[in-house]
Amino acid sequence: MTKAAKTIRKIAGSEPIAAALVLGSGLSSIGDLLADKVTIPYSELKGFPGGGVSGHGRDLLIGTMGGKRLAILTGREHYYEHGNAAAMRPALEAMADLGAEKLLLTNSAGSLDENIRPGDLMLISDHINYAGMNPLIGEPTDRRFVNMVNCYDSDLRAKAQGIGDRLDLNVKQGIYLWYSGPSFETVAEIQMAIRLGATAVGMSTAPEVILGRYLGMKVWACSSITNMGAGLSNEHISHEHTKTMAVQGAEKLRKLIPALVEEL
Ligand code: HPA
Repeated sequence: MTKAAKTIRKIAGSEPIAAALVLGSGLSSIGDLLADKVTIPYSELKGFPGGGVSGHGRDLLIGTMGGKRLAILTGREHYYEHGNAAAMRPALEAMADLGAEKLLLTNSAGSLDENIRPGDLMLISDHINYAGMNPLIGEPTDRRFVNMVNCYDSDLRAKAQGIGDRLDLNVKQGIYLWYSGPSFETVAEIQMAIRLGATAVGMSTAPEVILGRYLGMKVWACSSITNMGAGLSNEHISHEHTKTMAVQGAEKLRKLIPALVEEL
């Protein structure tokens, strides 16, 4: 068991967690939905992300939601912060040590599809690792050869789609292209991403999906669409805009996630 997992058990108790949820840019308010909450700053947990990006939290929350024991990582470290694609590995290993069999990921993303608009939620059905980096580079065992078929678990996705339809959240699905950032894409890069078959583009999530599958977890991921990709609309793309627009997606995720956790 990792040192961080031992620390978490000591502070929050040793009852296993059902799932871990990672919150993306501007989505940290979802942490408020957790009951009986214990808050542990990342700084107290060995290997957890330091530093940070504005709009992201830096706490681990342990509590209950929808009758399940859940861990919420209120912020992530992105590849673009220090060039480390495996930055989330220690934190996700700790989640696996605590018993998490499911990994729920959220992010903000730019849409490449005119039918998926800012404020919409998009369940990720698959990804394109355009950044070309991999968090398992350097892993010395044969476990590094992770099978990525159905890496965005189809059962979890179907459940979320059903809930989204029932709650009238207009939930869409599509393919996420991981672009390293931190600069946004050029107009030509967005046109390329469309030709490659992507539906949305963002700067996170794909390395965590690889790590989650490596750790044997079932993975679900959802993008909150904050803007159209560069050149696809007249809006000015910026991090401020992302944080402002994420509020709309967060409102929908606040309905979707508790219902999904209840059905896990
Ligand atoms: N590109 C990359 N990442 C993003 C975007 C985008 O347009 N919007 C929010 N995150």
